[in-house]
Amino acid sequence: MKLNIAVLAGDGIGPEVVDQTIRVLDKVADKFSHEISYTKADVGGIAIDNHGDALPASTIKVCEESDAILFGSVGGPKWDNIAPEKQPERGALLPLRKHFNLFANLRPAIIYPELADASPLKSRVIGEDGLNVLTVRELTSGIYFGEPKSIDTIDGEQVGRDTLVYKESEIEKITVIAFETAMKRGKKLCSIDKANVLMSMVLWREVVERVAKNYPEVELTHMYVDNAAMQMSINPRQFDVILAGNMFGDIISDAGAAITGSLGMLASASLNDDNFGMYEPAGGSAPDIAGMNIANPIAQILSAAMMLRYSFNLSAEADAIENAIKATLKDNYRTGDIASEGSIILKTDEITNKILGYL
Ligand code: IPM
Ligand code: MG
Repeated sequence: MKLNIAVLAGDGIGPEVVDQTIRVLDKVADKFSHEISYTKADVGGIAIDNHGDALPASTIKVCEESDAILFGSVGGPKWDNIAPEKQPERGALLPLRKHFNLFANLRPAIIYPELADASPLKSRVIGEDGLNVLTVRELTSGIYFGEPKSIDTIDGEQVGRDTLVYKESEIEKITVIAFETAMKRGKKLCSIDKANVLMSMVLWREVVERVAKNYPEVELTHMYVDNAAMQMSINPRQFDVILAGNMFGDIISDAGAAITGSLGMLASASLNDDNFGMYEPAGGSAPDIAGMNIANPIAQILSAAMMLRYSFNLSAEADAIENAIKATLKDNYRTGDIASEGSIILKTDEITNKILGYL
């Protein structure tokens, strides 16, 4: 198979973990006889420096001509003082999501048994076989994009405003994704809302209930977002798949991240209707350790595995990567962020060598 991948490494640790990920992808391509072509393009701070725009038209074009986007991370202190709407996050990430209609954001929070000691949770809360919760977050609507969105002067004072709007069709689409995903996993779905306060969330719950009729095998529950945030930290084992709107999903997926112990382990996929997707680690650009070859490349590599699975339907290849990572962790090879007693601490490229070895 021929895979055309747009590579948007971005800022901070992005370029170095993306480089390591490409080594892993090349090995997979070799092993499974695929041909991968990578087209690199600037995004985020580096794109501001080189083109005066966090998301240049040339970068969008590269993405449009590719089958999937491998995304590193954007942002850093160097660009903190420019106008908010031009900053790497608002100027690149949100427009990219919107432009490609990447409405379905899948964020797995996995505590591998080998890494249980990296989690802030007690081992009895995690359980012996680790933990695996998947958040399905709506990514192109809700309060992130609703209009009006402004700061105006009203009656002599400034008024800031965002609007939480959800159309029935938008709720339905993401709900179907969540149910389909649950069917392939533990057949449990918990929908997060705030139906006790917000009208948009009353509709959310109604639509989720309606879609549920098509999935009688899935056990559906509803939970208010405040309770869900708490349950995530005291009893995450109750969750299999979590469904949430844009902002609640943002929050709850970070709670999921926190309990795994390191942001350096969290992959994500953002998909549109055609399985075109953008794949990025959730950890951010970590400017403090950029260029030092000590960042954890695993989240980026796991994001590439998600890319193979979701955009290219290559699940054996994705499994191979995930298994190689598990084997690496099992043999106690770690980067600094996930190190514990007895582990062998490796640099970014060295841990990738181990992963390549297990592939
Ligand atoms: C995320 C991030 C982004 C979001 C920011 C950087 C705009 O927090 O991907 O979760 O809020 O969606
Ligand atoms: Mg977030």
